[in-house]
Amino acid sequence: MNIALLGHGVVGKGVSYILGKLQDKYHLPIKKILVKDEIECIDSRMTLNINDILEDETIDIVVECMGGIEPAHQYVLEALKKGKHVVTSNKKMLATYAEELLSVASKQGVNLLYEASCGGGIPWMENIHRIKRIDQIHNLSGIFNGTTNYILWRMQEASLSLEEALEEAKKLGYAERDASDDLLGFDVRYKVALSIMEAFNVIVDMDSIPTIGIENIQKEDIAFALDRGYVCKLIGKAELNGHLSASVLPVFLKKNHFLAAIERNDNALSCESSYLGKASFVGQGAGSLPTAHAIVQNIMDILEGRKIYRTMQKKEILLENEKKQYYIRCAKKEALKEYIQEEINEMSFLSKEMKLEEIVRLNQEIEDKKRFIAEVEK
Ligand code: HSE
Repeated sequence: MNIALLGHGVVGKGVSYILGKLQDKYHLPIKKILVKDEIECIDSRMTLNINDILEDETIDIVVECMGGIEPAHQYVLEALKKGKHVVTSNKKMLATYAEELLSVASKQGVNLLYEASCGGGIPWMENIHRIKRIDQIHNLSGIFNGTTNYILWRMQEASLSLEEALEEAKKLGYAERDASDDLLGFDVRYKVALSIMEAFNVIVDMDSIPTIGIENIQKEDIAFALDRGYVCKLIGKAELNGHLSASVLPVFLKKNHFLAAIERNDNALSCESSYLGKASFVGQGAGSLPTAHAIVQNIMDILEGRKIYRTMQKKEILLENEKKQYYIRCAKKEALKEYIQEEINEMSFLSKEMKLEEIVRLNQEIEDKKRFIAEVEK
């Protein structure tokens, strides 16, 4: 099987490296590599022209790891239409166009595989698929983003600021090119939408997943959490219980919570199903070789003749009704008097029990761009 790579950044280079190491074992040559810049054309396989790949009938598998929505979406669509299998790590593009791309793939009788799009190197999609084929998954939850987990961990264990920790995460190759997707929780939102698709066989409108990020977290928020015996984590979750609910929120977890001990760039993803009960998967959720590992696993799936075709219905996301307590830091605390349960200082407080819809509304209404909100575990 001949392979073409679209993109040769952190992930693409990792794929080249692993396939290079496997060359004596499997026949998986990389015939062409699409790059953005003349300066990246360091050998004869590099091209700046996508048609060199799309029109090459000897290429069987296109690996898309260029990131961003366009032109990645258009290239993947064209590759599928040309009857090529596609493996992608691009959660943003896939979460936006999954319905269209999966339908084209199944019409064409080719695979569109995306293990690397969620959980980095962890075989999360694969395990959801395996659990779901004989069981009913009821919910999924966990730490879906390596960059923010690394940041929260470094802020906690080395008292770094958000900016200092983000700088480290960038250097280590964990962050997106535009790290605001990581910080604002959007990267987790894409991954929760894809996990919902995999676990519940439905397509959702991503924008309807309430999402609060850690872009404004400060040392004092981490210090308060630690002082009260909590660890802050950015948690994505979804539940199918008659209706479908999902959310992405920073949560102050009790120190003895299983997720509180997840450090560095690790992700920890769990699901609960009727027969298996709770199953959890932990490992590196970001970085060159872990993500490339997941891509190469999908290449092996294709090599072994695996065929996975999916058809899906659309489903609406509703907000969960359970009331929770929240930690809120904002400059407009006075305006939020009715929600205060415990004053912490002039800027921050612990709220009374509130519904998610109230906190989503407050998050939009609070006129303080530096506000930080986190759910507090009961
Ligand atoms: N920026 C992403 C993360 C990369 O940190 O999780 C892996 O999807």
